Amino acid sequence: MNAGILVHGGVGSLEEWRDGCLYACGKGASILKKGGPALEAVIEAVRTLEDDGRFNAGTGSILRIDGKTIEMDASVMDSSGRLAMVMAVRDVKNPILLAQALLSTPHVAIAGEGAGKLAEKFGLEPHPGPSEHALKQYERIKKALLNKRPEEINPLWKGFEHLLCDTVGAVAMDRDGVFAVASSTGGASAMLVGRVGDTPIIGAGFYAGKLGAIAVTGIGEEIIKRSVARTVYDRIERGIDLERAVKDIIYSFPQDIPIGIIAITKDSAVALSNRKMAWAELTIT
Ligand code: GLY
Repeated sequence: MNAGILVHGGVGSLEEWRDGCLYACGKGASILKKGGPALEAVIEAVRTLEDDGRFNAGTGSILRIDGKTIEMDASVMDSSGRLAMVMAVRDVKNPILLAQALLSTPHVAIAGEGAGKLAEKFGLEPHPGPSEHALKQYERIKKALLNKRPEEINPLWKGFEHLLCDTVGAVAMDRDGVFAVASSTGGASAMLVGRVGDTPIIGAGFYAGKLGAIAVTGIGEEIIKRSVARTVYDRIERGIDLERAVKDIIYSFPQDIPIGIIAITKDSAVALSNRKMAWAELTIT
């Protein structure tokens, strides 16, 4: 493969939404085809998914437990050492563009009021507010909480696949052999205001190095505890076949914890999950 890109719509996303993944993948691939950088391709793919509205990221982000707050996490990384992580940011339509903006500062992570100020400085569009889907989703969560049945919504949360979908993400390799990853999420509800998941945590929700790039989706707390993305990368470094490396992690998760991984190396690309997950792949020869 000369270059390639994979995107996912989050573990729990429906097969019918694959068109959104294909569209985002095409947007990223068009950059790679012109010889553009992998970092730009994954950012464009994730920005497209954030704007889709069906996925839990950007415009489609779900609400926090207070029923009114939207806070989002996002990250970008490439194998040339570029890294940016934005955490629990509010009032930004495209957190991935805020991560891109952060790349032009001396910092690698930003949160809170300063993140909002940076978004303003870069002229990023404000968030349009909760989608109809996010409001419906919140009503279901509230009902389950009021019925004192949090297991209905929180995963160790049975029924997760019917209620939620998770993060969006993209991994790519460009014609120069540079690998990149981008991820964005509205979180994994039910969640407290201020909670941060795996998506902006290097080595947990994402990783890119000289041998490949990995994006993870699922319950952030479980992904962080297991350093999932870096664990996959370590296995690649040890010469383990990519599919085997990813499968081992997926199988090591308890059945009731949703997990999905997309990964790309010079020779192969895989997308695997233990629940439904919309995804797409395009290879450039
Ligand atoms: N994987 C997204 C989150 O847990 O926030």
